[in-house]
Amino acid sequence: MEEFLNILLNCNNCVVLTGAGISAESGVPTFRGKEGLWGKLKPEELATMDAFIANPKVVWEWYNWRRDLINKVRPNPGHFALTELEKRFDSFTLITQNVDGLHEKAGTKNILELHGNVYRNKCLDCQQIFIESDDIDPANIPTCNYCGGKIRPDIVWFGEMLDEDIIQEAFYVTEQADLFLSIGTSALVHPAASLPVIAKQHGATLVEINIDETPISSLSDFNWKSKAGEFLPELCEKLNRKVCLN
Ligand code: OAD
Repeated sequence: MEEFLNILLNCNNCVVLTGAGISAESGVPTFRGKEGLWGKLKPEELATMDAFIANPKVVWEWYNWRRDLINKVRPNPGHFALTELEKRFDSFTLITQNVDGLHEKAGTKNILELHGNVYRNKCLDCQQIFIESDDIDPANIPTCNYCGGKIRPDIVWFGEMLDEDIIQEAFYVTEQADLFLSIGTSALVHPAASLPVIAKQHGATLVEINIDETPISSLSDFNWKSKAGEFLPELCEKLNRKVCLN
């Protein structure tokens, strides 16, 4: 831990990648693992363009359910610790695969949302974005004010491309990072899963915080098998103590 604290104190450029595990302690279910959503539900029936075309009502019911769930939860100490960590670095970017907006609610400023946001919708046809926190009526899906297209969630579904500007920026900051933290992600879904590998190839210290092994565990310089909501606040506390002592 001492070595890790020294690295943290001496690096300027930190990039963090988060996945569903960071929000698990807030009460947002993860996708994989024993209790994961994809163990009980079929992603191809809920999170693909084909599913939306075939049955938009079911897809909207699922996203209304997720939005309601996310509306009821709060950022946890892991989210808040990352906000505190952000202030320590000259350059800090938080890349998240999560669509729950909890990093922003916790106050983190520089966030790249790779997979969209559950509080945004967009037009299926012209891609116009609509910020929307109210539920959509699945039996009466609204249409776009501009072109009349059907409104869909602004979430990246399986088989879809990520927003080009966002993923390019994610690659760019990853290549510049001297410290890269991969937190609460199974590191299975690309292109996000390639970011820790790229960071390592470009000379960053790679750190994983996850309760389980992942494909990047063996690649990591530090591998903390811990709950993010417990480990990260303790880390901030240790950093504060070390700074006070120096
Ligand atoms: P996953 O559900 O695949 O993985 C969650 C990871 O978090 C697992 O490796 C767990 O071991 C770990 N974990 C669980 N609780 C934790 C905790 N308290 N502290 C630390 N780690 C914990 O979620 P993602 O990797 O985010 O895509 O999944 C990637 C993408 O697949 C998601 O963004 C979503 C999904 O399909 C879309 O919706 C487009």
